[in-house]
Amino acid sequence: MPTVLIIDDEQNILVTLARALQLEGYRTEVAGSGKLGLEKAESLDVDLVMLDVMLPDIDGIEVLQKLRSGERDLPVVMMSGHATVEIAVRAVQLGAADFLEKPLSSDKVLVTVANALKLRRLTAENRDLRTLAGLSSRMLGSSAAMREVWEQIDLVAPSNGRVLITGENGTGKELVARAIHDRSDRRQGPFIKLNCAAVPAELIESELFGHEKGSFTGAHQMRRGKFELADGGTLFLDEVGDMPLAMQAKLLRVLQEGELERVGSCETLRVDARVISATNQDLEAAISSDRFRRDLYYRLNVVPIHLPPLRERKEDLPELAEFFLHLACQQNKRREKSFAPGAIEALAEHDYPGNVRELKNSVERLAIMVPDEVVGPADVRRVLHWGQAAPDRDSSADRFYDRSRSLREMVTEAERACIQLALRDCDGHVTNAARQLQLERSHLYKKMKSLGLK
Ligand SMILES: Nc1ncnc2c1ncn2[C@@H]1O[C@H](COP(=O)(O)OP(=O)(O)OP(=O)(O)O)[C@@H](O)[C@H]1O
Ligand SMILES: [Mg+2]
Repeated sequence: MPTVLIIDDEQNILVTLARALQLEGYRTEVAGSGKLGLEKAESLDVDLVMLDVMLPDIDGIEVLQKLRSGERDLPVVMMSGHATVEIAVRAVQLGAADFLEKPLSSDKVLVTVANALKLRRLTAENRDLRTLAGLSSRMLGSSAAMREVWEQIDLVAPSNGRVLITGENGTGKELVARAIHDRSDRRQGPFIKLNCAAVPAELIESELFGHEKGSFTGAHQMRRGKFELADGGTLFLDEVGDMPLAMQAKLLRVLQEGELERVGSCETLRVDARVISATNQDLEAAISSDRFRRDLYYRLNVVPIHLPPLRERKEDLPELAEFFLHLACQQNKRREKSFAPGAIEALAEHDYPGNVRELKNSVERLAIMVPDEVVGPADVRRVLHWGQAAPDRDSSADRFYDRSRSLREMVTEAERACIQLALRDCDGHVTNAARQLQLERSHLYKKMKSLGLK
């Protein structure tokens, strides 16, 4: 339970507040002066401070200032018997979580304390998530090939030039598109992605250009298209090689004229979106077989960036593997793990047809499935068993077997690992994972929650 430090010179308040909080299960510390309060806040493991404005030695506002100036984001609830609006405003400006007027009602105190603690927890979680999101969109690689890609990104980013990114599946095309956007003058604008392969042919036009209400069956409301949404920013056309021919003609017009109409509308809209596209197809071949328009190709391919497959830049593998191991431990809230000598070499024995994504998934699998903190070459071969038949199912229990743990802990560990793998198999789609695991969806949700999985 959290610890609340109460700083007040009225003995009576210290006693009643402490009792009310203790009854709710909080631990409490008390201080009868500003000086003692600051000392206790410094030396004890305190989660929240309740602070009186009027103290005999130091002014409460000054104590607040000192409490808030440290590294620790300590929530402080102010209390006062004769609060003026000015003092309350000043307290909030200085970062007080809340302001309570005396006489205190214990109900009000408990709600305020619970809210302030909850806000602090959410803020911390949010910060962690941001750090994680920042981490997982980092692009690494110092091979000659990747250095060249970086040079191209830096050159092209500040311009408005259209970029066509090519490369096999999982080579990092989307990361490159985001890197260009983030380094461009449009970085404050939106980055909008349309996966041309995932949208049914008949809906692509409305996805790109939007539609007016009632323009076709099912168009219940006006909807803006991705082009409009990307105004002032970047439109990323992923898997552009899969765009139906009819659509290619319409896209060409927008690229030529910078103008479009929503489906069912005759109003012409001007949009300023920078287009970056990506494909894993050989567009030259698609042009030869009349599946892709040559004129569109020239429009999209002003600056080409090609990402070589991982097997042609294995120098990048150690750096990527170390990073993905760190990332997976963070994401799965595991203790940090490391590779033993030889483990990276074992990872490098594989050819990675799925490129960086396959490496990332493989390392995540290791992070989840290897119970030790050090991942050795044998673990790599056992867990990833490339090119071998699937391992004997019975023997896989030794991954979880640990003499120092109870059966319950080991089963929980196995359960968590299986659910994570199923979720990964289904690209995070909970309904599909539940089906695969033969569970009710709600049951799986409950389990994920109790196991601390997102
Ligand atoms: N150079 C890199 N550094 C760090 N992570 C990378 C790198 N390249 C790719 N990744 C990671 O690998 C995964 C696949 O990357 P991305 O989605 O950008 O590939 P893609 O080329 O768009 O793949 P696809 O063709 O399948 O859409 C992502 O999780 C990405 O973060
Ligand atoms: Mg992609």
